[in-house]
Amino acid sequence: MLPQFLWALVVLTGVPSARPQTTTRLALSLDTPVTLTGKNFSSISTPVLFSLPSSSTSSSEVTISLALCAAASSNPPLVFVSNSSDSQVVPGPNGGANVFGVQIGNLGLGNFTLGLSSGSTAGVLAVYGGISSDSLEIGVTQGSTPLHAPVPHLPFFGDSTANEALLFSPPFSPPAPAPQPTYPNYTLPQANVTLPSAPSSQNSPNFTLFLAPLSVGLSALPQTACAIRAGVTSNTRAAQSAKVLAEQLWLRDALGWRKEWFVGQLTPLTNYTVYAIQDETQLSGPIYFATKSASFSCQLVHALPYCPTTAYAVPLPVPSPRALAYNASNLPDSLATPLLGYITNFTTSLLTTACGRDAYSPLQTCADCQAAYKRWICSVSLPRCGEFPQTSDSQQQQTLAVPAAALAPQPSGTPPRNAALGNVSDYTALLPCIETCNAVDRACPVFLGFRCPLPQFTANASYGVGYIDSADGDVMDGGVPGVPQDQWGNVFCNAS
Ligand SMILES: *[C@@H]1O[C@H](CO)[C@@H](O)[C@H](O)[C@H]1NC(C)=O
Ligand SMILES: *[C@@H]1O[C@H](CO)[C@@H](O)[C@H](O)[C@H]1NC(C)=O
Ligand SMILES: *[C@@H]1O[C@H](CO)[C@@H](O)[C@H](O)[C@H]1NC(C)=O
Ligand SMILES: *[C@@H]1O[C@H](CO)[C@@H](O)[C@H](O)[C@H]1NC(C)=O
Ligand SMILES: *[C@@H]1O[C@H](CO)[C@@H](O)[C@H](O)[C@H]1NC(C)=O
Ligand SMILES: *[C@@H]1O[C@H](CO)[C@@H](O)[C@H](O)[C@H]1NC(C)=O
Ligand SMILES: *[C@@H]1O[C@H](CO)[C@@H](O)[C@H](O)[C@H]1NC(C)=O
Ligand SMILES: *[C@@H]1O[C@H](CO)[C@@H](O)[C@H](O)[C@H]1NC(C)=O
Ligand SMILES: *[C@@H]1O[C@H](CO)[C@@H](O)[C@H](O)[C@H]1NC(C)=O
Ligand SMILES: *[C@@H]1O[C@H](CO)[C@@H](O)[C@H](O)[C@H]1NC(C)=O
Ligand SMILES: *[C@@H]1O[C@H](CO)[C@@H](O)[C@H](O)[C@H]1NC(C)=O
Repeated sequence: MLPQFLWALVVLTGVPSARPQTTTRLALSLDTPVTLTGKNFSSISTPVLFSLPSSSTSSSEVTISLALCAAASSNPPLVFVSNSSDSQVVPGPNGGANVFGVQIGNLGLGNFTLGLSSGSTAGVLAVYGGISSDSLEIGVTQGSTPLHAPVPHLPFFGDSTANEALLFSPPFSPPAPAPQPTYPNYTLPQANVTLPSAPSSQNSPNFTLFLAPLSVGLSALPQTACAIRAGVTSNTRAAQSAKVLAEQLWLRDALGWRKEWFVGQLTPLTNYTVYAIQDETQLSGPIYFATKSASFSCQLVHALPYCPTTAYAVPLPVPSPRALAYNASNLPDSLATPLLGYITNFTTSLLTTACGRDAYSPLQTCADCQAAYKRWICSVSLPRCGEFPQTSDSQQQQTLAVPAAALAPQPSGTPPRNAALGNVSDYTALLPCIETCNAVDRACPVFLGFRCPLPQFTANASYGVGYIDSADGDVMDGGVPGVPQDQWGNVFCNAS
């Protein structure tokens, strides 16, 4: 993506270093990035110089990290650092004792860890080159973890309507595993649970959402936080295209807490590129998702403590005017009460076995059975809406053949899967993944009589079969494509 730098890392070549007249040195501070743009770059051959902060006694090294905030020009900025004890040394392409080049890789990121003899004069950083279109962010941290880095996990797409979407940050702060209940006082959580309290903002990473239509071209920029932020905020189409209407921390599953964003003002039938920026300098993404057509009539349901993974469109009427979507406060009682009743009654039946004393499986416990049942009952009680692919900008972009999703038309008059939904008008269901059913079958004692339809018979009328596990159910993750949804915005079946 970026031109290969033509300079080599030159160390200890014995070439005498330049000793120009004292030039102004700007100070870099720990953990606070500095940006060089436009006129900040030196137009002549003298470099822009910075003094590095000295390391504290607890650590004898600092890490310099670089991020390109715009695609590199033909005269890109080049960065050299030195930890020479001779404070007159100006690090540069001619090398010298203790002079190092910091290479920028193809994501637009670079880092270098510099040893510092404690207490001594701190190091020097020099930036050569760069023209007005270049933009470079420089960070310094103590120790060996760079300030600029990709986040290892991706954001998560909940679902979309024509102009709204539910998006989640990568997970953080996984909860401690709940202690296993023990016989004879084997207690399981109530149906209507409350979420534990969210980690405090000081103890959680600060995630910010950035998204734009595919046509804005975010994925062609350097994949750095500053480049994506600039790419969204400086582009009027991108900046006006979406708005976060609500956000909160949400514990979806055991992976941990996530920032959840409820996004509005989206354009129908458009493919969006999504990034999450952590603490200003770390980038997660991209993932993609497509909005539905303008005629899509289902409504988003989310933030249900008893169905924590539910974050998708359900065939329900438009919520009362002041609400953005359905959550635990406005989900109709006709849906919530029976759902919680099923969980309560199932739990009562389950506890008639001597949970924790008579093992019915070497691998599974009553707590696992209840958890699998809750996930399944949520996905069948709250059917998910989908939409058959439409000719659109997102479809034209699609080049690789992807499997067709588990979509089943539900013309009005079809008996609803959940009687409490009443007579809903025409919609297309995105069927639950059969694995949500098989997980209950596998985790629960046989006497409960829980059964899933068999794949060779009618399973595909009510479930998505062969997406996660192989169609016969024998090979875990052996389905096509092996996941319920992918980072490109394809959702094959409902795994929530
Ligand atoms: C870069 O230039 C801007 C505007 O001229 C100035 O405010 C800023 O301090 C400069 N930054 C550095 C690191 O020199
Ligand atoms: C300078 O940094 C390099 C690379 O981290 C290290 O090997 C060297 O020991 C350091 N020199 C001094 C004087 O600290
Ligand atoms: C730091 O730079 C090295 C190469 O110099 C690279 O392999 C590594 O991935 C970088 N680390 C981060 C967090 O970017
Ligand atoms: C049984 O366990 C629950 C939760 O772990 C606890 O609140 C309760 O006091 C225990 N009851 C007895 C009789 O030990
Ligand atoms: C998180 O980041 C945003 C945007 O960068 C900033 O406005 C906000 O104050 C930060 N919040 C915290 C708790 O640091
Ligand atoms: C639920 O929705 C109401 C109305 O839109 C809102 O005021 C409330 O904050 C939401 N609660 C959660 C947990 O999302
Ligand atoms: C679930 O519990 C909360 C309080 O803990 C209560 O406000 C809410 O009405 C309950 N939901 C249902 C459907 O019973
Ligand atoms: C749960 O069990 C009670 C008592 O047997 C019954 O009245 C109720 O209808 C059951 N609830 C559901 C949702 O099946
Ligand atoms: C969105 O665009 C990306 C990049 O072209 C593509 O790979 C992906 O399949 C598209 N997603 C959808 C849902 O159309
Ligand atoms: C659902 O439709 C059927 C047939 O059209 C009708 O008899 C019934 O009253 C309707 N039920 C509700 C709750 O609207
Ligand atoms: C279900 O599978 C059978 C064969 O196994 C196939 O004939 C039928 O078309 C499938 N139905 C759906 C709705 O995909």
